[in-house]
Amino acid sequence: MTVKPTENTPSAPAVGGLPAREAALDIITAALEKRSGLDEALARPGLGALAPRDRAFARLLAMTVLRQLGALDKILDSRLRKPPPETVKTLLRLGLAQILWLGTPAFAAVSTTLALAETRKDGRPFKALINGVLRGLVRDPAPEPRPEDLAPDWLLARWSATYGRGPALQIAAMIAQEPATDLTLRDASTAPDLIAALSTEPGEASEIEAEPDAPAPVPSTATLLDGGSIRVHRRGDVAEWPGFVQGQWWVQDAAAAIPARLFDLKPGDTVLDLCAAPGGKTLQLAASGAKVTALDRSEARLKRLGANLARTGLNAEVVTAEAVAWGDERPFDAILIDAPCSATGTFRRQPDVLWAARPADIATLAALQSKLLDAAARRLKPGGTLIYCVCSLEHEEGEAQARAFLRRRPDFATVPITAGEGGAPAASVIDRGWLRILPHHIEGGLDGFFIARFRRAD
Ligand SMILES: C[S@@+](CC[C@H](N)C(=O)[O-])C[C@H]1O[C@@H](n2cnc3c(N)ncnc32)[C@H](O)[C@@H]1O
Repeated sequence: MTVKPTENTPSAPAVGGLPAREAALDIITAALEKRSGLDEALARPGLGALAPRDRAFARLLAMTVLRQLGALDKILDSRLRKPPPETVKTLLRLGLAQILWLGTPAFAAVSTTLALAETRKDGRPFKALINGVLRGLVRDPAPEPRPEDLAPDWLLARWSATYGRGPALQIAAMIAQEPATDLTLRDASTAPDLIAALSTEPGEASEIEAEPDAPAPVPSTATLLDGGSIRVHRRGDVAEWPGFVQGQWWVQDAAAAIPARLFDLKPGDTVLDLCAAPGGKTLQLAASGAKVTALDRSEARLKRLGANLARTGLNAEVVTAEAVAWGDERPFDAILIDAPCSATGTFRRQPDVLWAARPADIATLAALQSKLLDAAARRLKPGGTLIYCVCSLEHEEGEAQARAFLRRRPDFATVPITAGEGGAPAASVIDRGWLRILPHHIEGGLDGFFIARFRRAD
């Protein structure tokens, strides 16, 4: 089977659209250059200055290339005699992604890619090569990409070793899928009204204006997930969605919302959120009525946490500090550690993490995670609950971490998490009562996470 353009995707601007394509090239370059490059590029004023239609197309194009990067590179490598400079490779990725997945007519994808190459001094000398490779792929399409093409080989090998080949391929297949947006509600009783307000009729939903021959825009839909998150299929700026300004909800993946729901907090209990920013879990804890201390070492990320608290009208004590060295001796009834990690479980929204991750980083992060667990254990009251989680698919940051912690601290024991608790998918519960959430564990997907709950002996 060969690769054909997908149906039911918004049509790419067939002519013009150069600013959108330039922005997409910049986003991809930034995302592949350094960790956090994608977030920074998406927040740049230049992108915000584009017309809404161009901005939406730039994001769609950049995210499509990043989600399909492994597949695109395998196809391009098979047609190139030697690796071209990185900019030229990204120009080819952009052209091919439009042909294969965005419904851009082939002639328009080729000509706009050549126009884009003309704007770059490192692209201009390679126009003949770009033209030849893209036209060659139109004439003689490549075979359909397989799930194993989507992940870096070393990560796929790790996932196969940890979970088995079948689940590893199921994980990899999720990389290409555009995720819906999940919302966590400040007050669960508002769910029915919000679901109604977030669901629209056909024609109201698409931010990218349809081309005359484009498929009809898809209506936006909102559904309630187990655990209480609302899943919204809708594009566009979330700040314009119903309930945002009123602080009725915040964006948080369905998996990321589970850990904070696993405490049994009573009003007035003290909770330390040890790696808190930008604050999705802090907001959940504060909404439960607990007295929350939100600590993080990043001033910039804590600013976002402060803005989230202000918008939702929730309260927390905010502390800028390094968690291990923090001098405050207060003990807490409950502690959440959402530890810094390789973040390989977040590839549905941050596909660049797969290409930024390095094996050595996993070992460095695992060492920090151990220190954070020990620092948290010292600060927990006897009888208190400690929840440890990471948005990583890597065993060293999850199961191995929890096992080593229990060996170091025999005064802590696992409190098993049961299927359905806090929205825990049944497929994610593993033998010790920990959660190993894989991205395909619910329909439509969720982030990969490891979650363990411990109790300190009285
Ligand atoms: C996975 S993120 C936390 C996400 C957050 N819990 C949420 O739900 O929005 C990890 C956080 O740990 C912080 N961090 C990393 N190392 C730290 C340290 N040694 N002490 C305190 N915070 C740290 C990072 O700045 C980052 O904000």
